Amino acid sequence: MTHPAPVDVPTRDLFRLDGRTILLSGGAGAVGLCVGKAILESGGDIVLLDVAQSPNAAQWEDIEETAKINNTKAFYYQADVTEAETIPPLFDRIREDVRFPLRGLVACAGISGEGDAVDYDINVFRKILDVNVTGTFLVAQAVGRDMHRANVTGSIVLIASMSGWVSNRGINTSAYNASKSALHQLTRSLAAEWGHPQNTFPGSTPSDTNPNPSMEPRKAYPPIRVNSLSPGHIETPISEAARKRGLTDEWARQNMLGRVSQVQEFRAPCLFLLGEGSSYMTGADLRVDGGHCAW
Ligand SMILES: NC(=O)c1ccc[n+]([C@@H]2O[C@H](COP(=O)([O-])OP(=O)(O)OC[C@H]3O[C@@H](n4cnc5c(N)ncnc54)[C@H](O)[C@@H]3O)[C@@H](O)[C@H]2O)c1
Repeated sequence: MTHPAPVDVPTRDLFRLDGRTILLSGGAGAVGLCVGKAILESGGDIVLLDVAQSPNAAQWEDIEETAKINNTKAFYYQADVTEAETIPPLFDRIREDVRFPLRGLVACAGISGEGDAVDYDINVFRKILDVNVTGTFLVAQAVGRDMHRANVTGSIVLIASMSGWVSNRGINTSAYNASKSALHQLTRSLAAEWGHPQNTFPGSTPSDTNPNPSMEPRKAYPPIRVNSLSPGHIETPISEAARKRGLTDEWARQNMLGRVSQVQEFRAPCLFLLGEGSSYMTGADLRVDGGHCAW
């Protein structure tokens, strides 16, 4: 099923998200809360999902106030994105609670950790890959299923990092960098699967890792676009330690704008990727890094 190009959408509405629910994993974090608020201001309802029991009280009050002013709605659920078995029942609950179907995802949940590769604790390495890669996949999978079920188009944004393209100069974060590179490839793979039925050969080859192959033709669904967003260094509350070590000043010297970014600078890129403005964009990475990787 090809979806018609949204040629009649007025230019002013290209960033609007009215009548849609957008889920944000890692929704209690710096990027999640800021982008979530921007979505409310753009007409969309939001579902914030985070391992934190609750968001910061003052920030949640701000979210609720923003929702009220914009006639939109905000929901918060505590959940660990790595706990595969808890995700389907959680999505059943979310489907009951929201007033519009899920049409978008901003997958922000992520962790990092420094350590020299020769000494890297393998459990930490696994944990980082589990949260950043498997957790992102599990949420994208649940959102994709939900969109198929509701027979709607959608847009998925995986928050990767410039660290998926280059190695962070000055700090040793091999697990994080590898995980973010994996997200770039996950983006292309999901975009190919969910863009158009022509993209997959019918059937699948049985193997040890594919014990239930089906030769049935796959169902055709409205397209889901999948893109990643790769931020450069962001000034957030958790970068306090980096600032104390002088890393923030060093990072500012490593990009073409001579400063690290602010979290608000990821609002427009996310809204663009979620909305009709990016209707012909899928399988791509949007790098927003002050030119860090262009040098
Ligand atoms: N801050 C930066 O400089 C920077 C740069 C590039 C990319 N990023 C990426 O942007 C995204 C958001 O980062 P941020 O700066 O807002 O960080 P943050 O720590 O403020 O937010 C991340 C959120 O993810 C949540 N989370 C962690 N593990 C989880 C789990 N298992 N299940 C559910 N939620 C979980 C945390 O509780 C937190 O609220 C991350 O993926 C990060 O890797 C950040």
